[in-house]
Order: sequence, then structure tokens, then C-alpha cells
Amino acid sequence: MSPSDRRRTYAELTEGTAADIAGQLAERRQRLERRLAGVRHTLAVLSGKGGVGKSLIAANLAACLADQGASVGVLDADLNGPSMPRLLGVERSSLRVEGDGIAPAVGAAAVKVMSMDLWLEGPDSPVRWRGTESGSFLWRGTLEANALREFLSDTAWGDLDYLILDLPPGTDRIAPVHDLLPGLGGALAVTIPSELSRFVVSKSLTMVKELGIPIVGYVENMSGYLCPDCGRIGPLFSTEAAPFEGVPRLAAVPFDPRFGAEGDAGRPDVLGRPDAPAARAVRDLARAVRQFYENGS
Ligand SMILES: Nc1ncnc2c1ncn2[C@@H]1O[C@H](COP(=O)(O)OP(=O)(O)OP(=O)(O)O)[C@@H](O)[C@H]1O
Ligand SMILES: [Mg+2]
Ligand SMILES: [Zn+2]
Repeated sequence: MSPSDRRRTYAELTEGTAADIAGQLAERRQRLERRLAGVRHTLAVLSGKGGVGKSLIAANLAACLADQGASVGVLDADLNGPSMPRLLGVERSSLRVEGDGIAPAVGAAAVKVMSMDLWLEGPDSPVRWRGTESGSFLWRGTLEANALREFLSDTAWGDLDYLILDLPPGTDRIAPVHDLLPGLGGALAVTIPSELSRFVVSKSLTMVKELGIPIVGYVENMSGYLCPDCGRIGPLFSTEAAPFEGVPRLAAVPFDPRFGAEGDAGRPDVLGRPDAPAARAVRDLARAVRQFYENGS
């Protein structure tokens, strides 16, 4: 504080602060809206449950839509366990400025990708939130929401047909995304045929409904095991995946070790082995997604 500041009264100093904050918030909102003006459709991929294949399905869906001619961007909304650059085969390189934003990385089928992973030093570096209270829950939530906002509004996405957001596990993770993108176009749930997955995924769907986000449908992942020896699909879980009432099942993707391994190696298998059952299921999914957005059904 300068000596002249010190002579001012508290009222004088704080005058206009509320208006400044409101102005800043409006500015931030406008920035985001301007940035996403060229994005036609937004889709959040979620489950609530961890490890059910959200990211693998999201990467293959993005590659499939892009391969069919759409321009597609992926926002890796999993800040603490980012996996989209890896799944889409993005080469590690330095980020560069493009116009008034950061150029997204480019992966398989020319899918544009923005992820926390691209900002970290190396492949083994975890995210570390710095700050006096970075361990506190509230503070971390704020940092994460700000990072997501910046990824959305500072990335030079250009014109996109689809912007797909890959969410981290957690049934409440859709809420901050909805705060940032009140016009979020749809949510796609991923589940597996286990009672536990169903239990958690239905909580996420409740939250999605409460927020008024349109539900595109759900994918049943790991629905059966594709035997690499004989190519037959047998049961993987002892339970059938019970449907979610009123939510359409858009595709059933088998557990196929190669589908997983190719994805982990950065080659979306929907492109590499288009005749495999998992690839067919991803194409069913892409068709349903296109129908939902193009025809509103
Ligand atoms: N249908 C499948 N066939 C083979 N492997 C699969 C299949 N689905 C998922 N996997 C594998 O299971 C692992 C977990 O998948 P993934 O990371 O996509 O799950 P997730 O739901 O995004 O997890 P998280 O909740 O941590 O974000 C990955 O190694 C992936 O390759
Ligand atoms: Mg994931
Ligand atoms: Zn077999």
C-alpha cells in the first residue's frame, strides 16, 4: 500500500469492489462464450464409478466421429488422472500460442486434445496443486474449477462439431462442469455389468437429471469377454447389466484385451480394427450420438 492509499478511508478503498467482481465474472463468462461460439455440440462422458472405461470409450468415440468427418475436440476434465493424450496417441511436445489462445494437441484422426497432462513436465509427473491450503477440499475444488475454465476458454478450439469432455470418477463431478457450461448439450454414462457400478452410476444419473442436462444414453462396457483364442464372447460378470429406467442403452462393448491394449498404446482400436466387435459397438454409439444431436432424439 502506498502512503496515499493509507490515507484513504476503508469505504473509499472498497468502493466499487463488488462492481469489479461482478464485472470480472461477466468478463470471464463472455470469454468462455466467445471461445465456444464455434462449438456446435458438447458431450460429457461420465459414470461416477472409477475404472469402468469412460476414457477408453470417450477416446474411441472421438476418433470414430472424427474419422466419419466431424471436427472433434476432447477436453480431458480428469485433472488428477489425465489419460486422453495417451489414449489418442498425442506426442509429447511443447504447447504453443495460436492467436489469442493455446493450440490444442492433435491426436488420432486429427482429434484436438487439451489435458492437464500436456502441462506437466514429464510422463511420470503428477499434478501438484500449490498454495497455502492446497490440501483443503474447498481450495482444491476452486483450483480445479479454475483450471477447467482456463482449459475451455484459453484453448484455440476453432470450429468444432463435437467437444467431448472426459470426466473423472465421482458422482458430483458433473456439477462444476455444469456451472461452467450451463448449456452442456448432453451426458453419456458408462457402466459395467456389476451391481456396484449400477449403484454408483445411477447416483450420477440422478445428479445429471437434477441439473437439467439432457441424457444421451448409456454404454454398457465390458459386456462379456471376447476370447482372443476363439473370438467368442462369453460372460465376464455373473450379473446381467440391469437397465436404467428411461435411459436408452446405446451400445454394448465387450471386454476385448486388444481393444484395451491398443487404446493404452495410443491407437484407438475403432480405427485400427474396424471389424472387431468393440469397434462395431463404438460405431453404434457414434451413430446414436449423432442422431441425438442432429435430430434431437
Ligand atoms: N472394453 C474394454 N476392453 C478392454 N479393456 C478395457 C475395456 N474398457 C476399459 N478397458 C481398460 O480398463 C482400464 C480402465 O479404463 P479407463 O481408464 O478408460 O476407465 P475410466 O472409467 O476412465 O477410469 P477413471 O475412473 O480412472 O477415469 C484401461 O486400461 C482400459 O484400457
Ligand atoms: Mg478416465
Ligand atoms: Zn475361446
